[in-house]
Amino acid sequence: MTGTNSSAPRKRIGILISGRGSNMRALIEACEADDYPAEVVTVISNRPKALGLEYAQSKNIQTVAIDHKQYSSREPFERALHQALVEAQVDLICNAGFMRLLTSEFVDRWHNRQLNIHPSLLPAFKGLHTHERAIQSGVKITGCTVHIVRTEMDSGPIIAQAAVVVSPDDTAESLSNRVLEAEHQLYPHALKLIASGEARIVGEHVISSTDETINTEALFFPPRK
Ligand code: GRF
Repeated sequence: MTGTNSSAPRKRIGILISGRGSNMRALIEACEADDYPAEVVTVISNRPKALGLEYAQSKNIQTVAIDHKQYSSREPFERALHQALVEAQVDLICNAGFMRLLTSEFVDRWHNRQLNIHPSLLPAFKGLHTHERAIQSGVKITGCTVHIVRTEMDSGPIIAQAAVVVSPDDTAESLSNRVLEAEHQLYPHALKLIASGEARIVGEHVISSTDETINTEALFFPPRK
């Protein structure tokens, strides 16, 4: 018993991207399983040439390009984004390498319905250049986090985290590759927890509703034997 209610309608997911979209791809692939509690109904990019759009199209998923450069400020851009999400009847948004900061107006409209993945063990290393900073700081373990979006950048209730060991000879690139591999496992896992209702958001915490899932919210890469 996983806690997934197979008779419940699947949650409709809108993915926001800006680039290559490898996390988007991991989510799309996870949604292909019959018993996965979510389906991707639209992929929206603020960069019309984002590579990820091609993959989504190859899977016959609706794609929308909303070029932020065509808007005078954040507000009209976000109104267009909101409109596209509403038109696609999205239940949950997954940010996957989406490189625009969102105003509190947009974040509040999608309160507790927007997820983000960040390549560090939050609250450490918010912002950009996480792997360079992790190596520089000398941490022995880093990883990635999927969390609910709040207005403050890279903040919000943590759904799940994966730990990745930092090797003494790691470069930002080698570490980034291993963390990315972990991200591709973690994001589908975290989305499943929220979409199925196995985990719920209580204030600023995410709580598992079954004992069974509690220990699966921290993952290790490579998996511990
Ligand atoms: C990932 O490392 C993600 O954690 C960060 O941006 C990167 C996007 O990569 N927010 P991709 O576009 O999913 O390949």
